[in-house]
Amino acid sequence: MTDTKKSEHGAWSSRIAFILAATGSAVGLGNIWKFPYITGENGGGAFVIVYIFCVLLIGIPIMIAETMLGRRSQRNPVETMDLLTEEAGADKNWHYLGWMGVIAGLIILSYYSVIAGWASAYVLKAFTGSFFDADGVAIKKIFDDFVASPMQLIFWHSLFMVTTMLIVVRGINKGLEKAVQFLMPTLFVLLLLLVAYAMTTKSYNQGLYFLFVPDFSKLTSDSVLSAMGHAFFTLSLGMGAIMVYGSYLPKNISIAKTAILIAGADTVVALLASIAIFPIVFANNLEADSGPGLIFQTLPVAFGTMTGGWLMGILFFVMLTTAALTSSISLIEPAVAWLVESKGFSRQKACVWSGLTVWLLGLGTAFSFNSWSEVKFFDRSIFQLLDYLTANLMLPIGGFCIAIFAGWIMKQQHSEEELDMPNAESYQLWKILISYVAPAAVFFVFLHVIGVL
Ligand code: PFF
Repeated sequence: MTDTKKSEHGAWSSRIAFILAATGSAVGLGNIWKFPYITGENGGGAFVIVYIFCVLLIGIPIMIAETMLGRRSQRNPVETMDLLTEEAGADKNWHYLGWMGVIAGLIILSYYSVIAGWASAYVLKAFTGSFFDADGVAIKKIFDDFVASPMQLIFWHSLFMVTTMLIVVRGINKGLEKAVQFLMPTLFVLLLLLVAYAMTTKSYNQGLYFLFVPDFSKLTSDSVLSAMGHAFFTLSLGMGAIMVYGSYLPKNISIAKTAILIAGADTVVALLASIAIFPIVFANNLEADSGPGLIFQTLPVAFGTMTGGWLMGILFFVMLTTAALTSSISLIEPAVAWLVESKGFSRQKACVWSGLTVWLLGLGTAFSFNSWSEVKFFDRSIFQLLDYLTANLMLPIGGFCIAIFAGWIMKQQHSEEELDMPNAESYQLWKILISYVAPAAVFFVFLHVIGVL
């Protein structure tokens, strides 16, 4: 690769900047909105344990691999795969892996933006005091009325997409680093306060029991697939987002340590959010398996009754929207980076085209909660279908291929050199996880789901 090409591609100002941005990508709606609701749908404890195993055995090794591939090539995912295949003397078809990532990112963002729109709409609801003294039933009605209105969902979805694209158009260094620096600590403190509130409800123990005492009879092969899919989704893996961020990473930084730190922070946030939510669910006789509306039907009950709840409510939804923004940026960056670096688009033009595509696709999700709620494919609404297709299929398949590439195709000498682990044992451990454990786990879960095992 030539130096001029490299220099078009930005770089993080420091290791901490990369950590912040990658954590910003990982921590988002996946932790606070999705993890609690899919845990509720899949019966609690046993699902949580499978998820944690997936993060440790599949997520972290793949995160290391993905960052490493990006940093080695210093290019967008499509070109990264081209370049590294050439370096390894491998088949050109690896090219399609980069492509699948670009497409998965666009599809995920289309529904992600609609849900992020809900979070922004709830800032306004919190501000105008809608939750004041409302009980579980009243809060549920607020949510049901809101999602029944296509116009409202489209308005907030549009606002969120425009904001995302305005940030992306400015490039990676400006804005993003600063936003995350302030966001993460605030979000963390708010979650701790919500956990403290949950402790005061009569159902705190019931919530903990639901989350941490496993009942394996509740696990189906589809819930194992969801737990695995979510490990990819929550860590932003399998589609090139972390690869793109890795490509902006300076050469002298330890990838492995950084990946463990990010995965740890991500998991803690998801668990804290769930510890805050489930006691409120049980205390208010709500259903644990009420689906994507779960946090919007529970946390406002807390905000409506606790002291300082008005301010907390506003802050919480502002933080949730901002956490969603720092993830949405990374969902579209692979597409934008590819259009700019490979297709010669200006950054503005790339943003307009990719943003418009995502916005249009998002209308399907917005309608799937109201006008098109009866439209089903394989028994799933448009939103559920897009979520299943990406989180449960495309990301794990992408991650599987990344593992095979890093473990089997790339020359050992190259991965060793790029990872520069503190000792030979750590490298060996990673090598075993990436070459055998992670791909075999993904493969077996798939076999199980299609009924072969
Ligand atoms: N990890 C983000 C979340 O948990 O909200 C979602 C996400 C971002 C998924 C980027 C995939 C991705 F590439």
